Amino acid sequence: IAPLVGRLSKLGPPGELAAALLTRLAGAGAARGGPEIPQAVGSINAVVGQAFFVPLYDLFLTYGGIFRLNFGPKSFLIVSDPGIAKHILRDNSKAYSKGILAEILEFVMGTGLIPADGEIWRVRRRAIVPALHQKYVTAMIGLFGEASDRLCQKLDKAASDGEDVEMESLFSRLTLDVIGKAVFNYDFDSLSYDNGIVERLVEQEDLQFHEEYMNEQDPSILHFLLASGDDVSSKQLRDDLMTMLIAGHETSAAVLTWTFYLLSKYPKVMAKLQDEVDSVIGEGLPTIEDVKKLKYTTRVINESLRLYPQPPVLIRRSLEDDMLGGYPIGRGEDIFISVWNLHHCPKHWDDAEVFNPERWALDGPNPNEINQNFSYLPFGGGPRKCVGDMFATFETVVATAMLVKRFDFQMAPGAPPVDMTTGATIHTTAGLKMTVTRRTKPPVIPNLEMKVVSDSQEPTRSTPS
Ligand code: HEM
Repeated sequence: IAPLVGRLSKLGPPGELAAALLTRLAGAGAARGGPEIPQAVGSINAVVGQAFFVPLYDLFLTYGGIFRLNFGPKSFLIVSDPGIAKHILRDNSKAYSKGILAEILEFVMGTGLIPADGEIWRVRRRAIVPALHQKYVTAMIGLFGEASDRLCQKLDKAASDGEDVEMESLFSRLTLDVIGKAVFNYDFDSLSYDNGIVERLVEQEDLQFHEEYMNEQDPSILHFLLASGDDVSSKQLRDDLMTMLIAGHETSAAVLTWTFYLLSKYPKVMAKLQDEVDSVIGEGLPTIEDVKKLKYTTRVINESLRLYPQPPVLIRRSLEDDMLGGYPIGRGEDIFISVWNLHHCPKHWDDAEVFNPERWALDGPNPNEINQNFSYLPFGGGPRKCVGDMFATFETVVATAMLVKRFDFQMAPGAPPVDMTTGATIHTTAGLKMTVTRRTKPPVIPNLEMKVVSDSQEPTRSTPS
């Protein structure tokens, strides 16, 4: 792990990842022209340094559900139409690879499940999906609760000390602790340590996960994959586990960050959320039965993922000629499916920019790409859909419920504005600084029952003789 993480740390802050991505695109040779597809001319300078999907939204409103964006000699297609997204991701998914994404992630994920294509992907997907079976996720509920409780303790101390907290980095630590246990049965315990995650990982050079973490008490994905007896090379196993560690860490942290930002902006949603949580969970850690009852909490997460999809774009490359939205395209086209645009489309969503968990009925099905006909893609769709969707939903529901049960959250006075920047997910530019206060409990009524002191109990006075 250490050499990999060393290389990961060299990549620097998330904005640099976007810049690296775009530079690679700009240098990647001209794609076949598609004269019928509307063309927008962009400047790479306009995109680097800010959240690059934001200007793509304005271009979508101007040019429509598919358009070509030229960066010097290089061009790529931006897709914001649910029908075309469905075609690429599901109906004709075999004609598309991960393209540029696989090239960028190769150094850290190798041929792990996210970048892999073709036969390697097919075999590894079949091995990994059962590892995240519903029973496994249910067994993880306690782990989600324990890690969230450690975060509550940290917040409790901050509340006592009257110190504001930077929630984005705390959420990053929370989800690292969760995914480390879930994938390797390894305790990063990053909530208890203040030095950086990367340094701590590098300190663990002797992490011998093969034998050390194999035992019957170990429900980790690593344990499952080893026990399933598949003939898998240690390099492939490392790539798969590393992929899940990264996939399950940054995404869930980003969901929690933006959920709490939204809750601070919408106090009525927060009040309703706290009502539900108060009526469902008690003093102990939430159980799976509790989680199933946390329906409004789940809608809050669903809606947060609509407004802040993680990642905001999906990347593909065409492997053969195809038709997209009635336009012919050639082999080798680099394509961005803008989930951000799909989720913000003013034609599809009433009050698209409003955080409104009520848009989905509490007793209705959980919104997903199928029942929303590819207008809502929080976990992608088709054969490459996220394998950790249930894991991530339960993890974020448990964490949100436990935190709002114990605390109120407000933007800290003088906190920097919360702007977006991109890595693989949407980050804040300067953190999410919040004031955390313990929720006021109903006043404790003192026991006013007075002891009636009878004459006989009067202290006896010694009478002078
Ligand atoms: C794929 C989102 C959590 C493992 C994906 C994709 C999305 C996504 C959109 C599709 C990417 C594409 O089509 O290009 C999320 C979000 C999460 C989350 C929003 C948290 C809220 C997790 C967790 C795990 C995980 C916790 C593992 C435990 C994966 C893997 C893939 C994937 C392995 C690749 C699947 C394949 O290509 O066959 N995720 N994910 N994700 N996710 Fe997640």
